[in-house]
Amino acid sequence: MRIGILTGGGDCPGLNAAIRAVVRKALASGHEIVGIRNGWKGLMSLDTFPLDLNNISGILPRGGTILGTSRTNPYKHPDGEKKILENLENGKIDVIVAIGGEDTLSVAYKLHKAGVNVVGIPKTIDNDVRGTDYSIGFDTAVNIAMEAIDRVHTTAESHNRVAVVEVMGRHTGWIALYSGLAGGADVILIPEKPFDIDQVCKIIEKRHARGKNFSIVVVAEGAKFKVEEQVDKDGTLIVQDLRVDEFGHVRLGGIGNLVADQIEKRTGMEARATILGHIQRGGSPTAFDRILATRFGVKAVELINERKFGVMTALQGSDIVEVELYEVVGGLKTVNPELFEIAEVFFG
Ligand code: F6P
Repeated sequence: MRIGILTGGGDCPGLNAAIRAVVRKALASGHEIVGIRNGWKGLMSLDTFPLDLNNISGILPRGGTILGTSRTNPYKHPDGEKKILENLENGKIDVIVAIGGEDTLSVAYKLHKAGVNVVGIPKTIDNDVRGTDYSIGFDTAVNIAMEAIDRVHTTAESHNRVAVVEVMGRHTGWIALYSGLAGGADVILIPEKPFDIDQVCKIIEKRHARGKNFSIVVVAEGAKFKVEEQVDKDGTLIVQDLRVDEFGHVRLGGIGNLVADQIEKRTGMEARATILGHIQRGGSPTAFDRILATRFGVKAVELINERKFGVMTALQGSDIVEVELYEVVGGLKTVNPELFEIAEVFFG
């Protein structure tokens, strides 16, 4: 078979490890493989190049994606699906391996329903893809955020400050929860639980009353802020830019500064924000992500060999399994409430 492989959505560490594994296993299984540049965008213009052992050599530890990525949604373009179907035929591509998060996988699912052979591989530092315990990139992002929290910790302590660390997490608080737990955060704020700033201040004041002179607050960029006079019980999302991408997402960021500012105003304690941003998505993957990506890549080709399409590779417990794409799309995996309760034991 002739396989086309693409990466879509935000990049993350571990994508190249997955590409390498798909190519190695595909060639060993007697398939041909081409790289599709820049996600679905490259499939709409048939921007492809052959992949072989040489052009994937040395990419295992490298961050980013050698294929490039985009947030292009073919279903937002006139005749997007038609163009893709034609290009698959013109490019003689029999099957697509789509490495992506919920957005990329939902396009993969729609194409599958239109008759295309697709296999998905989950990636996103946000770890919010349904059906899998972990997505590629999450473990690396958590480790980067944990290290940042550790570093902020020592300077907050020296200066008697409240340090607010803003991490990524558009709809879910997985990075905030994991890095906050691992880094000993005194408060963790996540999108799943709109927060009241007065409650946050109370926790910090209580902590300082028992003799601590600094605090660490970890906030997910998508956490929602509730103020007394607000009528919307779901809270307000803090955005940098109201323009939306082709999947309908606004650009988030800035809640860390707002939280620090409010804490300073309400408690009189000096508070500073650190926004980790794309640092969480860059650089070399952890061993965990390299192995996960490698296992997903090999599994994806095994599924192709078995002619199982419309599925996604997944980690469940310690096993690599396949799940149907229809079970994955249409919703996100939100944080486990029991895990959040464990984190709350350490608040204040
Ligand atoms: O892909 C998920 C994510 O990491 C989100 O947490 C974040 O909101 C978004 O990507 C940022 O993406 P961009 O690279 O487009 O700024």
